[in-house]
Amino acid sequence: MSHDTIAINRQRQDLSQHESVWLFGYGSLIFKADFPYIQRQPAKIVGWSRRFWQGSHDHRGTPEAPGRVLTLIETPGERCTGMAYEVKPEVFEHLDHREKNGYLRFTTPMTLADASVVDGLVYIATEDNAAFLGPASDAEIAAHIAKAKGPSGPNREYLTKLSDALRALGVHDPHIEALRDHLPKAD
Ligand code: BEZ
Repeated sequence: MSHDTIAINRQRQDLSQHESVWLFGYGSLIFKADFPYIQRQPAKIVGWSRRFWQGSHDHRGTPEAPGRVLTLIETPGERCTGMAYEVKPEVFEHLDHREKNGYLRFTTPMTLADASVVDGLVYIATEDNAAFLGPASDAEIAAHIAKAKGPSGPNREYLTKLSDALRALGVHDPHIEALRDHLPKAD
């Protein structure tokens, strides 16, 4: 599958008749909400884990030297805590552009902090996208992140900002904490 997903995402869901749509953010959407939202709440989805298994050609790396960013991997029994945003449908035009490097929108139920369960959208980069890098050891992933940089800044900043934001939410994510522990010191 091509890694530019803007056109595919536009066709996946017709959001035009919705007053608002819930969006589940598990990565950069937690610490970088560069879009208007009606409300936001911490939220959980079940059966998924975040992993730094997706290549980034456009934000935290380049086509010649991709960085590593997050996607969700199906993991029965696991819960992933993130931030849910209620947004107007037009916000997805901005998000489809921002997350165009291999991410498709999927529909998922999510449990909000106020205990309500809503259906919403989540961006996932599946294994068949051209930018998918897949698993590696914590040390290898951390070393890769320490070296990469792209138009949105150093790849290590993505990891440290996410880790800080999760800690602020009271979330312990073993994958994220292990990568932060393995991150070589900055130059
Ligand atoms: C997110 O924070 O939900 C997200 C991360 C990477 C790409 C798309 C969305």
